[in-house]
Amino acid sequence: MFEIAPSILSADFTRLADEIASVKAGGAKMLHVDVMDGHFVPNITIGLPVVKSIRKATDMVIDTHLMISEPGRYAVDFVKAGADMVSVHVEADHHLHRTLTAITGAGAKAGVAINPATPIEMLTEALPYADFILLMSVNPGFGGQSFIPTMIDKLRRLKQMIAASGLPVRVEIDGGIDESNIGEVVRSGAEMIVAGSAVYGRGDPSAAVQGLIEHGTNWV
Ligand code: DX5
Ligand code: ZN
Repeated sequence: MFEIAPSILSADFTRLADEIASVKAGGAKMLHVDVMDGHFVPNITIGLPVVKSIRKATDMVIDTHLMISEPGRYAVDFVKAGADMVSVHVEADHHLHRTLTAITGAGAKAGVAINPATPIEMLTEALPYADFILLMSVNPGFGGQSFIPTMIDKLRRLKQMIAASGLPVRVEIDGGIDESNIGEVVRSGAEMIVAGSAVYGRGDPSAAVQGLIEHGTNWV
């Protein structure tokens, strides 16, 4: 079983409520919100006020991906703004245990995001405090980049590491996923699949979500 998490990064922000309603109509239950600070990543996107507005507009699960330096300073504010899931980058946080337990304590699911070139061993000590891992399959910062093929093997090794730990940690994957590779990503164990340009870049977001669900389901 897997879920599609459409990334609003590629949506039309002037019509955000409609763009959200249309992916929900296509079968998505989660919404992925990319928060960038122009420091941890070379791009600036959206922040707390937008998350607050989205919370009022939908009952979907709001999944905030914080691509910001020192995420511990803001993580709980995102929960207060309405996020159901908050992920912080292992590369950006010197006090990961503190941040993850603060997110959980505030009532949201806590995730650790990891860049393509960061070894999964960096996650070992954080697994007991994480609800999910967000495996980046592109370098974070922009939508519309190509999937890095070696991330399939990394995903498999991450799944093995989690299985060996016996902990109930779920895996989300983010970047460059479309109908051509979602099958392999599902087969390799991803449980939540972020898709930005493959959902919002094709004209009909609702049909695009349906297409991804179909391709992910019929991979055998
Ligand atoms: C990239 C973001 C992604 C992005 C995915 O830094 O974290 O969530 O929106 O977009 P696509 O699916 O177009 O690669
Ligand atoms: Zn993301």
